[in-house]
Amino acid sequence: MKVSEIKKKFLKEIEKINSFKELEEIKLNYLGRKSGILTKVLHSLKKLPIEERKKVGKEANSLKKEIENFISLKFEKLKTKEEKEKLLKEKVDLTCPGKKVYLGHLHPLTLVLREIKDIFLRMGFEVVEGPEIENSVYNFDALNIPKNHPSRDLWSTFWLDSALHFSSHTSRFLLRTHTSPVQVRYMEKHQPPFRIIAPGRVFRHERTDASHEIQFYQVEGLMVDKNINLSNFKAIILHFFEEFFKKKVEIRLRPSYFPFTEPSVEVDIKFKSKIKNQKSKKEKWLEVMGAGMVHPNVFKSARLNPFNWQGFAFGVGVDRLAMIKYKIPDVRLFYKGDLRFIQQWR
Ligand code: DAH
Repeated sequence: MKVSEIKKKFLKEIEKINSFKELEEIKLNYLGRKSGILTKVLHSLKKLPIEERKKVGKEANSLKKEIENFISLKFEKLKTKEEKEKLLKEKVDLTCPGKKVYLGHLHPLTLVLREIKDIFLRMGFEVVEGPEIENSVYNFDALNIPKNHPSRDLWSTFWLDSALHFSSHTSRFLLRTHTSPVQVRYMEKHQPPFRIIAPGRVFRHERTDASHEIQFYQVEGLMVDKNINLSNFKAIILHFFEEFFKKKVEIRLRPSYFPFTEPSVEVDIKFKSKIKNQKSKKEKWLEVMGAGMVHPNVFKSARLNPFNWQGFAFGVGVDRLAMIKYKIPDVRLFYKGDLRFIQQWR
């Protein structure tokens, strides 16, 4: 092939080249050491007569330079093109909305517990705690719940294996069935007047259903002074509920029985609930807590003189309050760890 023809062919081909791979191929095809088209011409020069050798040699050498130039130019072009495409792909869209970072959040029961504590703290109450593993003396005996007395059955108990042996009697370990033992633990170590709440987890050996769990939370309350009475209790607890539900509420005290209070009451709150397919709302009383005046025997257990002091105590179920506040139909949802439920408080 003539040098001029090789040039023509090369120029045509280099036009179409669009990738580094093709560029490498064309380079090999024309300038390859053994079988490059132009290399072959250069190798065959020595067979030509001297005059022609000079002429063709000059042409071929200058075409070689030209081809090398074209190839390096093309190489630069492809490189710029590649870089541009890369940049385009990496382009940051500043108008894109940011991705939301999800932080952890508090469990609904934690939120409710914190709110309850805040309300009582604002009323001058102190927050104290007691152990979840209790012994039968604090959980029962000191609270005027005698051994073998049927009232003990009110609290289905998880008993633990170990026991403490005293000279006169044995105290068995258990998971506390209520927060009331904290009353006695606190009174043993503090002189009245005082007002405390004791929040914490309690356990019941019971069959579970939508309103019963084997573990739940209670807040115990205790206020002792020279002349505390039930109307003090009523005022404080009404204020508490109005703060907690953030609206006016109506409560009523209903006579009841607890071994550690005399008299004992149960507190109901009035709720208006919608009846299906009707416009009017039905009024319903919902039982929310137990309370009463501290029984003289409980003062005695804590070595306080019942003739000097009187006070009220109450125990409220935290789960129950959370269920009412957030309209949750099943207490077990709090403990299932189902994120679809929990993340509603995010
Ligand atoms: N401890 C009771 C329970 O778990 C609740 C209770 C009732 C606590 C009356 C009190 C009280 O302090 O005075 O069922």
